[in-house]
Amino acid sequence: MIGIDIEEVKRFNKYLKNSKIIRHIFSQEEIDYSFSKKNVAQHLAARFAAKEAVWKALSNKNKKVTVIDIKIVNNKYGKPEVFISNKKIKKLELSMSHTNKYVVAVALFLR
Ligand SMILES: CC(C)(COP(=O)(O)OP(=O)(O)OC[C@H]1O[C@@H](n2cnc3c(N)ncnc32)[C@H](O)[C@@H]1OP(=O)(O)O)[C@@H](O)C(=O)NCCC(=O)NCCS
Repeated sequence: MIGIDIEEVKRFNKYLKNSKIIRHIFSQEEIDYSFSKKNVAQHLAARFAAKEAVWKALSNKNKKVTVIDIKIVNNKYGKPEVFISNKKIKKLELSMSHTNKYVVAVALFLR
């Protein structure tokens, strides 16, 4: 199963001023990673797109999973990995890319 999502970065630029929204959507690790980068909103937007793509790839499985249950963590090579409820999901492959305006993410759930 596969999932894809695209987001506009400007939406996340607005969220930067609202820590309540940021904390509602992102884990502390995701916040720390994104704020360590020059283009914070791009990395937050990419993580949000990734969560949506993962949710789509899960299809009918685990529809109770919410945005905050899904966590994106980059491994030592920079490759993003998916955690659900703090458990690494090896069967979920994720890739994301960003520009100043848009971010995209694709998730693949391997059977
Ligand atoms: C890693 C690399 C491919 C990222 O490409 P980019 O055009 O700079 O940036 P993009 O916006 O497309 O992608 C960024 C995302 O790539 C992902 N990424 C980074 N390293 C990765 C890796 N080793 N494996 C998989 N995905 C990786 C991350 O999710 C990153 O976003 P994040 O920091 O928000 O998590 C690039 O920086 C790089 O190092 N290229 C090496 C040159 C090369 O060999 N290119 C391939 C030629 S075929």
